[in-house]
Order: sequence, then structure tokens, then C-alpha cells
Amino acid sequence: MTRVQLRSPADDIAEILVDAPAIASKVRELGARIAADYEGRDLVLVSILKGALPFLADLMREIPIHLSLDFLEVTSYGASTRSSGVVRILKDLAQPIAGRHVIVVEDILDTGHTLAFVLGHLRSQRPASVALCTLLNKPARRVVGVVPEYTGYEIPDRFVVGYGLDYAERYRNLPFIGVLKPEVYGAVGP
Ligand code: IMP
Ligand code: MG
Repeated sequence: MTRVQLRSPADDIAEILVDAPAIASKVRELGARIAADYEGRDLVLVSILKGALPFLADLMREIPIHLSLDFLEVTSYGASTRSSGVVRILKDLAQPIAGRHVIVVEDILDTGHTLAFVLGHLRSQRPASVALCTLLNKPARRVVGVVPEYTGYEIPDRFVVGYGLDYAERYRNLPFIGVLKPEVYGAVGP
């Protein structure tokens, strides 16, 4: 019987920008800051599917105060690496947020189109406050003025994958954040 050589997603990585221990220590630091800032408030973490899922899962366990979770799913990219600026809601919140303190938990702030839309959508529902916690920030790419209250790492203008971030829906399961080998672009199919 012939054995098929399986390729791991990690084989497609050219360079690791943020490794797993660095992510974990930053998440601990952000969690402690959020817990101190929101102690005694009615806090809801609104996470944006699917990219923010690992970040949310780790972050919430580093926030030792009462909180609840809700989810939004939006799309702006399709399978390309360039933002269209057109944001659509695929899944809306399950619970009202009026009068509650909301922190939006997002994987990456890039052009700002997605988060400007999401923050506007949430503010129109009259929460007590809305803040933004993004693991990664690419300030060089900003088109729309969005300023996060909590930022993990500022990174250069490079397309990154891993720890929730995808290229054509792949690589979300990598435990670190890295850059793909150039030959991967275009070679990924369904
Ligand atoms: P924005 O609307 O341009 O700020 O883009 C936000 C969304 O684009 C993020 O939530 C990601 O889904 C995606 N995105 C932006 N930059 C990257 C990247 O470097 N890698 C993977 N996805 C990205
Ligand atoms: Mg995303």
C-alpha cells in the first residue's frame, strides 16, 4: 500500500511573526487589564466569527470577572487578501446589548472597514459603552479611523495567518501567527 505524504499547514509558513508563548503572555496581560477596567460592570464580549475564535477562547479565560458572550459574523474579503470595503452581516447578535458594556473582540484591525461597520452597528443599539480589543493591529493599512482601546501586537503591513486568521479559509488552526510562503498564494484550492 502506498502512503500519501500529508502536508501540514505549518509547512506553508515562511516566517513566524508572533509565536504561541508570546500570544499567551499578551492575552494574559489584556485579560488582566480588562478585568480591572470592567470589574462590577455588566460586560458582554462580542466576538467576530470566525477569525477571533481562538483569541476569544483564550482571552475570556484570562478575565476573572462575570461576563457573557455573543457573536457576530460578518464578511468583507471573500477568498482574496484585499478588503472590498463592503461589509455584510451573516449572523447577528443573539441577545440585546442596550445598557450593557460591550467589548468587541477581533483578530485583526486592518483597513478598519469591518470594525467601523461593526462598531456603528453596535452603537445604534444603545449599549452603555463599546470598546474594541484587537489582537493584531496593522496601522499602516488604515483607511477608516478606528482606534482600539486594547491592542495585542502592532504588526507591519504583511498578510498573516494562524491563531484564527485564514487565507482562503485555511491556516486558522495554526497555534502561532505567521506569513505564508509566496508560492502558496494561488495554489490553495477547495
Ligand atoms: P478590515 O475591514 O480591512 O479592517 O479587515 C478586517 C478583516 O479582514 C479581519 O477581520 C480579517 O478577517 C481580514 N484580514 C485583514 N488582514 C488580514 C491578514 O493579514 N490575514 C488574514 N485576514 C486578514
Ligand atoms: Mg475576521
